[in-house]
Amino acid sequence: MKTAKIQDLNEGDILARPITDSYGRVLLQKGVKFTNRIIQRLADFQFKYVYVQDELTEDIYPQDLLDDQIRFETIHYIRESFRAFNEQPTNLKRNQYILEKSLKEVQKKVGEINEIIQDNEEILSIMSDLFLYDDYVYMHSLNVTVYSLALANELNYPKHKIEQIGIGALLHDLGKTQVPKSILNKPGKLTDLEFSIIKEHTIYGYDLLKHANLPNEVKYCVVQHHERLNGSGYPYGLVGPNIHPYAQILAVTDVFDAVTTNRVYRPGLLPHEGLEILYSGSGELFLPEYVDLFRRNISIYPNGAEVELSNGAKGIICEQNKHLPDRPKVRILENEEGKLHKSQVYEINLATTLDVMITQCNVSSFNG
Ligand SMILES: [Fe+2]
Ligand SMILES: [Fe+2]
Repeated sequence: MKTAKIQDLNEGDILARPITDSYGRVLLQKGVKFTNRIIQRLADFQFKYVYVQDELTEDIYPQDLLDDQIRFETIHYIRESFRAFNEQPTNLKRNQYILEKSLKEVQKKVGEINEIIQDNEEILSIMSDLFLYDDYVYMHSLNVTVYSLALANELNYPKHKIEQIGIGALLHDLGKTQVPKSILNKPGKLTDLEFSIIKEHTIYGYDLLKHANLPNEVKYCVVQHHERLNGSGYPYGLVGPNIHPYAQILAVTDVFDAVTTNRVYRPGLLPHEGLEILYSGSGELFLPEYVDLFRRNISIYPNGAEVELSNGAKGIICEQNKHLPDRPKVRILENEEGKLHKSQVYEINLATTLDVMITQCNVSSFNG
């Protein structure tokens, strides 16, 4: 299968991966033939691309770390934890009770996800763009958790620390339950006042968890994940050594997920574009060691993505090379003379063909 931008879909194209919402309900079955109406609906929901069936790439599959079951179960418990505060913000006792109950489940899920990460031989890839979520913050919390657990593993942290980071990541934006939705989801630029209210989510989150039976490290993740190395972050403007290392990990993973996920008001960036943003802040905002490590461990060009190469050829990413995320294998379907016949299709491994590089990735939000 390969990716196709929504605006490039044609009536009759066939969906190769189902589209679900964040409750796990299938909205569009695999095998569905696109009609103009469906294509329009997907565009309305800000979908950037979908996977379509295609003869020359039928053996290419997107890598996805989490299967649907653990993804939706985890989102369910994140939703429960957050809702404890959403619905009855004043009934502290009851909220604490609901929170403690869902926290136990959340902790279990963090352990399970961490095992999946440790067993994973492939490069890390998250395909959250193919889901339609009711609330961005749940999917975001899960993604940040997966990325942060992966980084903590790469840093060779002991298990208990890894799990603390995981729980901190799952809960890092808990304080957003206290920020009006109209501000959280506002398209376009925020006013100074609105931005100052959003910034409060760090303190709100800390206050909500203050009495919870959780290690302090988790609470640091919540209150410090927007602090930046050079002191330009919030809420306290802490500088480098005063920011807890877990919060510095979250700074990297949180920003990456925030810019690469579709939002109602703008489509997400591609992984390589998200990394550019991290690199532009490396050393100033983010610890360079964490940025580098992160880059080496996540999939930059997902399987199935269409790319152009510096030698003029075009093709589809067909396989990843672990630790060389920017040099995957590419199946070439077109060269400078035009489309290749089925019998001429070949593959280039960019890990060994060093004079060729990827110059364009066509799933990009910018060129369509
Ligand atoms: Fe945040
Ligand atoms: Fe966040």
